[in-house]
Amino acid sequence: MATIYVEHKPYRVDATQNLLHACLSLGFNLPYFCWHPALGSVGACRQCAVKEFRNPDDQQGRLVMACMTPAAEGTHISIKDADAVAFRAGIIEGMMQNHPHDCPVCDEGGECHLQDMTVMTSHDYRRYDFPKRTFRNQYLGPFVNHEMNRCIQCYRCVRFYREYAGGKDFNVFGIRNLAYFGRYEDGVLESEFAGNLDEVCPTGVFTDATHKHHYTRKWDLQFAPSICVHCGLGCNVSPGERYGMLRRIVNRYHGDINGYFLCDRGRHGYEFVNSTQRIRQARLRRDEGLRPITKTESIEYAAKLLASSAQVIGIGSPRASLEANFALRTAVGPDRFFAGIAGHDRRLLNLVIEILRSTPAPIASLRDIENSDAVFVLGEDVSNYAPRMALSLRQSVRKQPMAIADKLKVPRWLDQAVREAVQDAKGPLFIATIASTRLDEVATETCHAAPDELARLGYAVAHALDNHAPGIDDLPAETASLAERIAHALRRAERPLVISGPGCGSESVVKAAANVVGALHRSRKAVCIALTVPECNSLGSVLLGAKPLEEAFAAVREGSPKTVIVLENDLYRRAPARDVDAFLREARHVIVLDFLENRTTARAELVLPAGTFAEADGTLINNEGRAQRFFQVFVPQEDTQESWRWLRDVFGAAGRHEFAAWENLDNIIRTLVTDTPGLERIAQAAPPAGFRMAGDKIPREPHRYSGRTAILANIDVSEPQPPGDPDSPLAFSMEGNPDQPPSALIPFAWSPGWNSYQAWNKFQEEIGGPLRGGNPGVRLFDPALQPSDYFQDLPKSFQAPDGELLMIPLHHVFGSEELSNHSPGVKQLSPRAYLAMNEEDAKRFGLSSDDNVEFTIDGANYQASLQIRPDLPSGIAGIPAGIEPFTGTPVPAWGRIARAS
Ligand code: SF4
Ligand code: SF4
Ligand code: FES
Repeated sequence: MATIYVEHKPYRVDATQNLLHACLSLGFNLPYFCWHPALGSVGACRQCAVKEFRNPDDQQGRLVMACMTPAAEGTHISIKDADAVAFRAGIIEGMMQNHPHDCPVCDEGGECHLQDMTVMTSHDYRRYDFPKRTFRNQYLGPFVNHEMNRCIQCYRCVRFYREYAGGKDFNVFGIRNLAYFGRYEDGVLESEFAGNLDEVCPTGVFTDATHKHHYTRKWDLQFAPSICVHCGLGCNVSPGERYGMLRRIVNRYHGDINGYFLCDRGRHGYEFVNSTQRIRQARLRRDEGLRPITKTESIEYAAKLLASSAQVIGIGSPRASLEANFALRTAVGPDRFFAGIAGHDRRLLNLVIEILRSTPAPIASLRDIENSDAVFVLGEDVSNYAPRMALSLRQSVRKQPMAIADKLKVPRWLDQAVREAVQDAKGPLFIATIASTRLDEVATETCHAAPDELARLGYAVAHALDNHAPGIDDLPAETASLAERIAHALRRAERPLVISGPGCGSESVVKAAANVVGALHRSRKAVCIALTVPECNSLGSVLLGAKPLEEAFAAVREGSPKTVIVLENDLYRRAPARDVDAFLREARHVIVLDFLENRTTARAELVLPAGTFAEADGTLINNEGRAQRFFQVFVPQEDTQESWRWLRDVFGAAGRHEFAAWENLDNIIRTLVTDTPGLERIAQAAPPAGFRMAGDKIPREPHRYSGRTAILANIDVSEPQPPGDPDSPLAFSMEGNPDQPPSALIPFAWSPGWNSYQAWNKFQEEIGGPLRGGNPGVRLFDPALQPSDYFQDLPKSFQAPDGELLMIPLHHVFGSEELSNHSPGVKQLSPRAYLAMNEEDAKRFGLSSDDNVEFTIDGANYQASLQIRPDLPSGIAGIPAGIEPFTGTPVPAWGRIARAS
């Protein structure tokens, strides 16, 4: 820490930081553009000028850029000094010479950092009297809109895209006095993090192209604190709604998880909420198909059906909230509650839970991953399976080389100087996956092999670290040597990390990763572990103790249960179509609760309209075992309500009196924590509905929210009372306490004078650090005191039987996830069905690139065009995960080529 003096008053600040960071952390309003808490300082814009004095008696001082000056002990500065104020106003005036002043038609208007800084510096009149510079804009794909005239040349975009996120197809192009930020030609931005440009750019050059289709100003949006539902990482998001339509998603800062950035699947996958395939009314099967019925009719019908059914079984879901799954488990009983995932997937998730519960190594958050200085990724294509984690890994490779900058006494926040000092040096990152991944380009070494071979490599690394760990005797010399190099790098590191997960479908791989962590821990290394999971509540649904889906199929086949309730789950994505067909045929009555039409709802007798994450409250457990609460953004149309409310209503009407007590979310959470050992802490994930700030609720709407009386003028010209919310301390209104709420309840970032995303500065304990009061959510697993025994079931060397290939799922950031696929932009970027293998295997089967190949997996027939991928190991074929016709295909599994044309 250091003491600095601002306007002669002493303040304690972080001595390793710069003056801008210090001033903003202290709460001062000091304008800036090119600096970004995650990107560091480059001193490009000259906006953050302050006067620095040699000592308290110095009257003259000199102007310095706060972002380029260390917060050294005894520094005296003035933000209010007249020279500094005039300098900052001059800089803005210069920037505004060419800025188009098109705020009324700019999508950034109302949440623009340039607007905020212009107001902060009091610039209000344009003296320059000549035409403005203009540019041609580019088509950058379905997510990012381009309007180059608004650029102020701060260079943040190119620094984020190329240096932070590793993108290659975006740059700054210069000619004479012009700088152009874009691609070398029109085209879809290749980085899956491109959408962050909307928030990184301090003006309206880059804006959300999906929001443009149904644009609403920030001040007219209604927000709620929420959690991304498009993978298992649990990034925090701030969804905005107007007129019953979800308009956009922006990042909601979480110091341990997503920080300032989301992936594009999470940012732009939201349009499923507005899909034409939404189910908004209950439907009952009549002879002629599913027909709408009223809510009352549907409850009466379901209650009658349940009352007459001797046995009812429930199928839960990893994309439904903990509360919805728990309501179903309570309704049908734990013995008749089944996980909505196949047995193999459930076994993998149980293994993940077992490891997370028994490991003495801390479970790494994304922030911990960024700070790791040697990483071993075993089996997981992180970029496609847990996208935001890949962005953290890209930062981790910078950690060890930072020693070069430290030696030269270059402060870490001085970004360009650090990059200059470090050049291309990268810290150890070893990636062992089935096929190549986008992170390979920053890896120290990569290895592409069959899952069993990856596991054998992992076991060998563990053995190299600790010879008590089981080793592999018949490892090829090359692999053994790689294992030694990985072990050496992990052993040398101060904060080593091992990443794995169920993405490639192999238990052996996950066990081998756990052995590496155990071996490092035994050698007294401060090792961390990170395991991925596929869906937003994969861990939550399994922690409720559901049985495998196959057992539900068997139970119905054997004729005992006659009625099946399916919760927010398209079973055709979970199991082979022939099995699901038979199951739904044999069950006499099928009730489905869901929000989108799918093949399962099409087979139901009764469909009940469930709320999406934007229309419901609940708890999700992410890959770290962190329980986080999401809140209703808006009150849904028609009869849509949370699944747990449907189940309460239906079973209550069927005479189950215990459901009567579930009046609000807190009631169900109370029962859940009492009934489910291990989940007690979920009650602490967010304050209960009764929480008040000085007696007031927390407003979901900004205080400038407009047109309230007009919104429902077709119904009543008087403003109706806003809907009540029994489930949270948030109000569907602009009224409420304007102060900072607890972090789990912050619906959107705003602070006086700070309308842009930069307002998050005002919510943090220290800039870029945790939110005040701690980051949202509560961890459910504590590190174990002792390491558990090593896994011993070592796989044999991989050998494909004659004429067969091991079919494995290849994940795609766009396309593999169910819900985001309903967003047109995501759909546009999704791959079509393919079968991929290497050239040698293709030749072996007499196939050539683009052949239409007929093949079988587990007895089912498929057809797809052939892609030759040199990175795939021999004996392995890849199919795109989650893409038709492969949804529900039980992979990994052996497959056979039937014919090619
Ligand atoms: S496009 Fe935006 S982020 Fe990039 S240099 Fe211009 S103003 Fe800065
Ligand atoms: S990484 Fe996962 S949780 Fe985070 S924004 Fe992307 S899809 Fe959502
Ligand atoms: S923010 Fe300091 S020079 Fe740009």
